[in-house]
Amino acid sequence: MTTQEIKEYYDITADRQTRAELLQAVALVNERDASVNSAPKIAIDCGCGAGADIAYLRNQGFVVHGFDLEAESIARCSARFTDDVDVHLSQASFNSFTYPAAVLITADASLFFCPVAEFDAVWAKITTALIPGGIFSGAFLGPKDTMASPDYDKQAYWPDVLTVTEAQLKPKFADFDIISWTEHDFLGQTAQGEPHHWHIFAVVARHDLGAPTGR
Ligand SMILES: C[S@@+](CC[C@H](N)C(=O)[O-])C[C@H]1O[C@@H](n2cnc3c(N)ncnc32)[C@H](O)[C@@H]1O
Repeated sequence: MTTQEIKEYYDITADRQTRAELLQAVALVNERDASVNSAPKIAIDCGCGAGADIAYLRNQGFVVHGFDLEAESIARCSARFTDDVDVHLSQASFNSFTYPAAVLITADASLFFCPVAEFDAVWAKITTALIPGGIFSGAFLGPKDTMASPDYDKQAYWPDVLTVTEAQLKPKFADFDIISWTEHDFLGQTAQGEPHHWHIFAVVARHDLGAPTGR
């Protein structure tokens, strides 16, 4: 059952601004070199929420596969993109989703909630789906974030919280060229205006052209 807090979060974020990392990722795909420019413009939005990034990716000409664990997210996105045959939606978890081959995979503010025990398998699925030369754009939660503290309300929001240090995260990108790596560590507010210590690693990275894909 989706909580009132999650519904409010989706109301607030449905038309939010596109974050800098996804803007950069799309620009990189649009500039892609001969090695990937024949690949179809297929993107995956992992944990798509209210669909803000799906809308942006559709405006940029991508076929988008969006998935989310929350039924409310998929109901909202199904209504929002009802006439759009190039938006494919699934209610699925990071671990249960069947990832198609994609030139861009985005996971914005969503892998924060990946069950810890599943993360390595999920990351393997993401990197396998991303074609060589494809772009990953996403954010990871650092240990200083309020969501990693007892102040985080697991009853109101998603109960699994995954935090990583820079030293733990960097090796995950061994098969990538890191294009941008930004550590956000500041006192701010949530989308609902609550005080929050944000500690986030925001990453844009290109899957190595020589990396194995498992395909
Ligand atoms: C903070 S919201 C971010 C939504 C969207 N990416 C955005 O930036 O607007 C996190 C999203 O991750 C989803 N989520 C949480 N756990 C998940 C899981 N295990 N598998 C897939 N999605 C999950 C939530 O339902 C929620 O929609």
